[in-house]
Amino acid sequence: MNEASSGLFRFIAGLARHQVVASTLGSFGILIFMLLGGFLLARENVKKWWIWGYWISPLVYAQNAISVNEFLGDSWNKILPGSTEPLGKLVLESRGLFPEAKWYWIGGGALLGYVLLFNILYTVCLTFLKPFDSNQPTISEETLKIKQANLTGEVLEASSRGRVPSNTVTSTVDGSNDEADSNHATVNSRPVNKGMVLPFVPLSITFEDIRYSVDMPEEIRAQGVKETRLQLLKGISGSFRPGVLTALMGVSGAGKTTLMDVLAGRKTSGYIEGNITISGYPKKQETFARVSGYCEQNDIHSPNVTVYESLAFSAWLRLPADVDSSTRKMFIDEVMELVELLPLKDALVGLPGVSGLSTEQWKRLTIAVELVANPSIIFMDEPTSGLDARAAAIVMRAIRNTVDTGRTVVCTIHQPSIDIFESFDELFLMKRGGEEIYVGPLGRHSCELIKYFEAIEGVSSIKDGYNPSTWMLEVTSTMQEQITGVNFSEVYKSSELYRRNRTLIKELSTPPEGSTDLSFPTEYSQTFLTQCFACLWKQSMSYWRNPPYTAVKYFYTTVIALLFGTMFWGVGRKGNDNKQKKRKQRIVNVKFPTVLQRLPLVPICHKLTCSRLKLLYSCRDNQQDLFNAMGSMYASVIFMGVQNSGSVQPVVSVERTVFYRERAAHMYSPLPYALGQVAIELPYIFVQSLIYGVLVYAMIGFEWTAAKFFWYLFFMYFNLAYYTFYGMMMVGLTPNYNVSSVASTAFYAIWNLFSGFLIPRTRIPVWWRWFYWICPIAWTLNGLVTSQFGDVTEKFANGVRISDFVEDYFGYHHDFLWAVAVVVVALPVLFALLFGLSLKMFNFQKR
Ligand SMILES: Nc1ncnc2c1ncn2[C@@H]1O[C@H](COP(=O)(O)OP(=O)(O)O)[C@@H](O)[C@H]1O
Ligand SMILES: [Mg+2]
Repeated sequence: MNEASSGLFRFIAGLARHQVVASTLGSFGILIFMLLGGFLLARENVKKWWIWGYWISPLVYAQNAISVNEFLGDSWNKILPGSTEPLGKLVLESRGLFPEAKWYWIGGGALLGYVLLFNILYTVCLTFLKPFDSNQPTISEETLKIKQANLTGEVLEASSRGRVPSNTVTSTVDGSNDEADSNHATVNSRPVNKGMVLPFVPLSITFEDIRYSVDMPEEIRAQGVKETRLQLLKGISGSFRPGVLTALMGVSGAGKTTLMDVLAGRKTSGYIEGNITISGYPKKQETFARVSGYCEQNDIHSPNVTVYESLAFSAWLRLPADVDSSTRKMFIDEVMELVELLPLKDALVGLPGVSGLSTEQWKRLTIAVELVANPSIIFMDEPTSGLDARAAAIVMRAIRNTVDTGRTVVCTIHQPSIDIFESFDELFLMKRGGEEIYVGPLGRHSCELIKYFEAIEGVSSIKDGYNPSTWMLEVTSTMQEQITGVNFSEVYKSSELYRRNRTLIKELSTPPEGSTDLSFPTEYSQTFLTQCFACLWKQSMSYWRNPPYTAVKYFYTTVIALLFGTMFWGVGRKGNDNKQKKRKQRIVNVKFPTVLQRLPLVPICHKLTCSRLKLLYSCRDNQQDLFNAMGSMYASVIFMGVQNSGSVQPVVSVERTVFYRERAAHMYSPLPYALGQVAIELPYIFVQSLIYGVLVYAMIGFEWTAAKFFWYLFFMYFNLAYYTFYGMMMVGLTPNYNVSSVASTAFYAIWNLFSGFLIPRTRIPVWWRWFYWICPIAWTLNGLVTSQFGDVTEKFANGVRISDFVEDYFGYHHDFLWAVAVVVVALPVLFALLFGLSLKMFNFQKR
């Protein structure tokens, strides 16, 4: 069975080729096989148009084989008084299972067949199906033009921005001087910068003796190191000024990202020492976040919005509140032009490597998202890593354009080509261990840098045409240090350059005369309400463009509704005549409960079996129908709920990484974000419960009164809502999607057990009854059953009033319907609140 299920879900994954679709189809598979597996509905209760489903369910075979194995055994061989057949056989028949011993072999054979079948189908899917979402990265109009020109052999005019058409760059086959020159022209020949719509205050940043350390990692401590802290930055000083583009370089692991995180205030752990000033005033994180931007190494964007919407959202929440919307629009357009995103304005962002923008376009979007905040200081971590020469040139041009507007830009960069390297003004070179070894200007063709290093004894001079950035990293490598015995950080500390830098830092760290410290009247640029609106707006765009989530959910809902409707066709109608009456009568003659009470079963299972058998065969007309109707409620509450909670989790966990970035940029506080995420679900859930409610209500044939229909919808709606928010909450409480899906599944099983359907409250052992009261599904089921049957005064065939039965057996009182309603409304509110709080309190992003 285990292998067959693995095979089945493997096959489903191969068929669906999309995480959300696969998980939907998967739960769909579980649903069909469970419902028709012969346990929830016995074989004779399965409608004739569904019986094929019974025969194809692997669960049928597994259950029958394992039951035959048990119940045809010796211990079940007793023949009870008043009966002719052994007890085991009776049990099997009563559950609609086949009592013949051959089923042991049939079951085993069928399961083996399923294992083979599913795995073969899976292989077939892998072999023949193409990737689902094979959208090409969006191509801008310009690229398209170039591509066409390449095909027709046309020569394109240089565009108005004075840039060399990109095809000359790409057509240079070897990356020698030729390309370098043309690229260089690309990077540097820009039009004189235009004034931007929005003014900004040019700010410089200085830092002195920055030390950053973390608690000693376990792995190192295991090697016998005694110190409790590991120092990653060892007293670094420097300054970045407006209009100057600084390259932060060093071998990987030197501590570049660490330095940037410390300066930008993005560290969530560790110990920071040292002074940082912003234009002479000590840095305060709240104000600093408002005037700075940080383009992280990993581009993180919401996948289901367009480029323009991403920018509009960022601008809305980060520009001062007094900027009106038309100015904001103009500013966004300006920024898009600056980083050359204008042709991609309406392109969907997508997921990297799957759909939407290409890597390089993502990078430019990352830059643009920070730029629309109109920051004075911008940090960029490896903006060109992973890009080819052409894409890197485009990104570099965007960065250069930015610096030329008078902003302060610092950029870490990895293996730059000569032209990219030389488009920087200054270099901040670090070595492994977190020490600086060169802080100063590059000079024309890097002459200053070359002069500095060639002057040091033991350093071999640079060859003609060699990339100075490569050379500089080579001669300062740890290996070279060991060979030549030069300690570059000490050389730097005793150099003229170092003294010059010290003076510069002193100068810049006293506030200019007549200046005032940065201050803002409010913590965030927009009010709480605007933040809520903005978040809701973005989420609504995101949801609208996410059919794999929303449309699949509706599709699933419709199919489940039809499924339940046809499976439980008409069970809600009054006066259903019971066909199995005769057979049941026969079995009831056997005193099941007393027999079963002698069995060594755990109390819960025991009670469960007793109560179910008693009810199933007690032959009170229509009581079983009540159970069937309740079974349909129970199944839909659980399946639809779990599906909702399961499918919302990947969506929320992707958005949460975006949330971390946006919160770090001080765009909003966690609560408006959570509110937006929660609020956008509400209308979608409403439509979902409407689809489901109308279909199922009509097909099952519940009583057509406005009040009962309303209650049905009401409970379904809030049931779906709290499941969905429960899923969100679990994402909020756990570090990643995998953990959250495992953790939430663990709870479903317990909820299921104490829902009041498998074991009614009155029969749950006292010491477990408290769980019934905190079990959300129990409340929904209570509401659904009570509103439907709690006030029915008609009688079963045995003369018991339906309402009395509901009250005695399940403990549902119609008078308390309103109280139940209040609890069911409170549940989603509670989960949503916990979701918001978990976002506020926990930060699973370690930096
Ligand atoms: N939280 C941490 N705990 C332990 N070591 C860390 C931590 N963060 C970074 N490091 C180490 O510090 C060094 C510098 O990292 P980083 O700043 O990311 O380098 P890079 O210059 O490549 O950006 C690396 O050797 C890394 O392993
Ligand atoms: Mg790094």
